[in-house]
Amino acid sequence: MFIRRLQIEDLPIRIEWMNNPAIYSTMHYDLPITLEKTTQWFYNNVNNVHRADMVVLDEKKQIVAFCGVTAIDLVVKKGESYTFVNPNMKGQGIGTKARTLLLNYVFNELGLNKVYCYTNEDNVASWKLSEKLGFKLEGVHRKEYFTANGEWKNRLYHGLLKEEWLNKNEQ
Ligand SMILES: CC(C)(COP(=O)(O)OP(=O)(O)OC[C@H]1O[C@@H](n2cnc3c(N)ncnc32)[C@H](O)[C@@H]1OP(=O)(O)O)[C@@H](O)C(=O)NCCC(=O)NCCS
Repeated sequence: MFIRRLQIEDLPIRIEWMNNPAIYSTMHYDLPITLEKTTQWFYNNVNNVHRADMVVLDEKKQIVAFCGVTAIDLVVKKGESYTFVNPNMKGQGIGTKARTLLLNYVFNELGLNKVYCYTNEDNVASWKLSEKLGFKLEGVHRKEYFTANGEWKNRLYHGLLKEEWLNKNEQ
């Protein structure tokens, strides 16, 4: 697998997946995602140094995941990560590989010092993936969202420092 910057021709697949309940049910954005709005968003962010949107492809050059860092703070050198995989291929290790490629990119190429992520507490696949890669739970935001049946839920804040990532991957 390899990672590269998001390109305009990737948008139809990105939109299709973002409109799939297997993806949007655990993420936070307004629906529906349209090609028109997403194309505008893409061009508005071409030179935006505060985010890096990426695509992960397999050996056949098929897209298997979208990921990136947003809210990049160039002074503190930190950013918030997101990842979503092909909704028909969840639980097959793709998220792990995609996030690994993303972390190598943001620490080694973008020069960030910290990557963090907010995760719904019931999105177990997501926070387990983070912890598997070395992210540490730094805080719990209480009652930050509620489920379809009105049950309040917490959001988890995990962070990973560059030195932790480099140390983990040197071993
Ligand atoms: C979260 C997401 C990116 C994980 O990617 P994935 O390819 O499904 O995850 P992986 O197969 O790499 O599994 C990573 C770890 O998560 C855990 N995991 C995966 N699926 C799980 C599930 N259904 N339930 C509990 N734990 C799970 C496992 O610990 C696994 O590691 P292990 O098998 O080595 O023990 C993916 O499920 C997804 O796109 N979800 C929808 C979008 C989203 O919520 N993104 C995160 C917020 S930005």
